[in-house]
Parts: sequence; C-alpha cells; structure tokens
Amino acid sequence: MIYLADTANCDQIRDLIKYYPIEGVTTNPSLLAHEGIPLSKAIPAILDCIGDKMIHIQTISENAEDILREAKIYREVFGLKSNFYAKIPVTREGYRAISLVKDSGINVTATAIFTQQQAMMAANAGADFVAPYVNRLDNIVSHGIEVVSDIVKGIKMYGLKTRVLAASFKNVDQVYRVSLTGCHSVTLSHEVFLALMSHPMTDRGVQDFERDGSQIYDIKI
Ligand code: E4P
Repeated sequence: MIYLADTANCDQIRDLIKYYPIEGVTTNPSLLAHEGIPLSKAIPAILDCIGDKMIHIQTISENAEDILREAKIYREVFGLKSNFYAKIPVTREGYRAISLVKDSGINVTATAIFTQQQAMMAANAGADFVAPYVNRLDNIVSHGIEVVSDIVKGIKMYGLKTRVLAASFKNVDQVYRVSLTGCHSVTLSHEVFLALMSHPMTDRGVQDFERDGSQIYDIKI
C-alpha cells in the first residue's frame, strides 16, 4: 500500500516529505480553498515541494467536454507530465469525461465514490485510480471499510488495472482496517499521518534504549 498526502498546505507537505517518502499529493477544491491561495499559485508551490511525485488535481467543470478542456489546460499551464492525475467526480458527465480524458493521454482518478458500483463503472470507463471516501461513508452510518473491500475484490475478480486510492480518513483505525482489504493506496491528512507515525510505547522503548545505550556505546559518532 502506498501513502499520499491529502493536503494543499505546503508547510504540511514539506514536513511529511522530510520524514516519510510519500508518493504524491491529492488536492480538492475544498482543500485548496482552505489555503486561500489561487490555483495558479497553489499548484506550482505544491510542485516545488514534490518534484515529479504524483499530483492529483480535481476538475470543477460540469460537462465532459469542459472537464477534458480543464484537464488539458492544467497539464499545459503547470507543465505536468505523467505524474498528473485529473480527479474527476463520478457524476453522469464525469463518467463520459473519464473516457475522454484518458483517451487524451491524461491519467484519471475517479473521485467522490461512495459505492462499489461507482468504482467498478469508473474503472471500466478507464480510471487509473478510484477514490472511495471512507470517513464520509462512516458518517452516514454506512461502512467505508466494507465499500473499499468490495471495490478491491471487484477489481481483482475482473482483472482490472485500476488501483484503489482510499480517501477521507479521520483516524488511524480506519487506515489500519483499509490496509487489511488489500487496498493499493491511501491519501491522508497531515494530522492522520502524524498519528500513524507515532506510538507512546515506541517513544518509551526509545527512551529506555537511550538510557541503557549511553552507558556502553563508546564509539564516537
Ligand atoms: C481526496 O481525494 C478527497 O477529496 C478527500 O480525502 C476528502 O476528505 P474529507 O472527507 O476529509 O473532506
């Protein structure tokens, strides 16, 4: 399972990259709006932090031709190559756009997925990644992990190349349980990333090792 950062905040991205080899960054209009920086400045700033790692940028157009035009403009304006994924919500026009964008040579991440069938249909339409929203499902008394698990099984069963990029996590347990489904990738907030990387028993163990080691580790480093 690979790990991406779900944030448009460059300080957070830099902080994560310093400590962990994330595979890329996912953004959406709400994350970008939260930073209060226009897209024309926000994406280059993110690219400065991540180099040629994956970047997923969501389209906001309504109809398929406009989504295709939007994705092509982002590729050109931001000088993106194969690391660019156009994130397309799975509306009716979105499904049409997935095929158009994919046929134009741009990678596609189908997003705003809440059912196994949305994911299977997006995969068949050509999506490289499908992004089910785990916590938002849990919040409507549905079961995010089960939906991810059904998608992973469906993709395997039909031999599709599409990968699952589980999104919308609010805690470590959701990430843990998603990882048991065979999910290919997750995208996590800075906060959930930090929570995954720390454990009080690890800190306690390290303190003990430092105390004991300081008495006998006599090689100068
Ligand atoms: C990522 O691709 C999604 O846009 C994001 O994870 C949604 O997360 P949220 O439910 O925390 O807004």
